[in-house]
Formats: sequence, structure tokens, C-alpha cells
Amino acid sequence: MRILIIGGNGTIGNKVAAHFRENNEVIIAGRTSGDVAVDIGNSNSIEAMFEKTGTIDAIICIAGEAKWADFNELTEEDYYIGLKSKLMGQVNLVRIGQNYLNVNGSITLSTGILADDPVIKTSSAAMVNGGIHSFVQAVALEIENGTRVNVVSLGMVEDAYEKYKDYFPGHNPIPMKKAVNAYVRSVQGKTNGEIIRVYE
Ligand SMILES: NC(=O)c1ccc[n+]([C@@H]2O[C@H](COP(=O)([O-])OP(=O)(O)OC[C@H]3O[C@@H](n4cnc5c(N)ncnc54)[C@H](OP(=O)(O)O)[C@@H]3O)[C@@H](O)[C@H]2O)c1
Repeated sequence: MRILIIGGNGTIGNKVAAHFRENNEVIIAGRTSGDVAVDIGNSNSIEAMFEKTGTIDAIICIAGEAKWADFNELTEEDYYIGLKSKLMGQVNLVRIGQNYLNVNGSITLSTGILADDPVIKTSSAAMVNGGIHSFVQAVALEIENGTRVNVVSLGMVEDAYEKYKDYFPGHNPIPMKKAVNAYVRSVQGKTNGEIIRVYE
């Protein structure tokens, strides 16, 4: 398969990319590194990325940002960061990316445990994750050409433990192998419209 991984040089993305590289052609996209440049917060940039990649068999997005801050500190503008990047960025990847997928291709998005089990400072990030879960279930009913759309929702992963441990007291870090396997299920399985949760 030709697999495009947006965020494929990130903490989770680099493990997912290493796995798929064993048996597939992997193209990495990101703002500052990778084979092709993209900012998913800009739909023109998404279109330009796909023009460069040409047709592919699987799109995986492991990128997107939202602002973390106390509820009383988050401004309206702060919410728009998550809405534009992580939410509409991933919606636009599906909207535009479907046109560059071969028949029976797949699109895998990324959210996280905050959608179901938020912690403090995440009213924006949790909201965006929940929106993507609903989007994936709905778009799977309509998308054509045999395309499947799923979302991987992970808990705090092992490789990000030092960065996030204070936000997630008592959470068990997700082994990277389990995180990678969630993406494998989405890409190589037959599931469609599924929220693939890995929280333990
Ligand atoms: N780490 C965790 O424990 C965890 C758990 C559950 C869910 N998640 C979610 O999974 C995703 C990846 O997490 P991570 O920890 O691997 O993050 P990370 O280490 O910061 O990596 C993110 C990658 O995405 C790229 N990226 C970020 N914004 C982008 C944009 N607007 N357009 C294109 N590429 C962009 C980054 O490269 P550039 O900066 O070069 O663009 C980077 O390669 C995030 O959405 C995160 O919320 C993470």
C-alpha cells in the first residue's frame, strides 16, 4: 500500500510510520519535516499536499492541536485553535482526501481519551475530540468508493508519559505497541465508522 501519514514524525506517528514502513510505501507529511509539507489547519495546504502525493491507499492523521488552559482563561480565539487545526483539519482531510484515495481505501483520524474522560484544562481539546468522534460515525454512512473512515482514540502513551503525567494522575500509559496496533486495525481491518479506543 501507499500510506500517507500526517504527523508521521511525531511521538506516536514515528512508531506508526516505522511499523507500516516494513511492508508498505510510507509518505510522511508535517509542517516542518517529512516528505511533503502540510498545515492541516489550511485547506489550500491540504489540497496542495494531495496534488504532490497523487493517489494513495490509506491516509492516517496523527496531528492536530488544541489549546490546553483553565476554562476561565480560554478565550473565544483559543477555542478556534482546536476547531481549525484538530477538528476542521481532520474533517478537511476526509473531505479533500477522499478524492485522492484508490477504491477501498481508508482514512484514520486521531483523537484521545479526553473525549470520554476529560481532565482539567481540556474543555477545548475534549470538545474537539468528541466532535471528531461524532463526525466519523456520521461520515461513514455516506462516504463512497468503498472508503472506510475510523478514528483512533488513545490514552496517554508511554512515549509521552513525562510530558503528560501530571495531567493524568493514576492513568496507565499505553504501550506504544498497543497504540500502533490501533492504527493497524483501522488500516488493515474492515471496520468503518469505528472509534477505536485504547485507554488501558
Ligand atoms: N501523546 C499522547 O499521549 C496522545 C494521546 C492521545 C491522543 N494524542 C493525540 O495524537 C496526536 C499526536 O500526538 P503526539 O503526542 O504524537 O504529538 P506530537 O509529538 O506533537 O506530534 C505531532 C506531529 O504532527 C505534526 N503536526 C502538528 N500540527 C500539524 C498541522 N497543523 N499540520 C500538519 N502537521 C502537524 C507535527 O509536526 P510539525 O510540527 O512539523 O507540523 C508532529 O510531527 C495529537 O492530536 C494528540 O492530541 C496524543
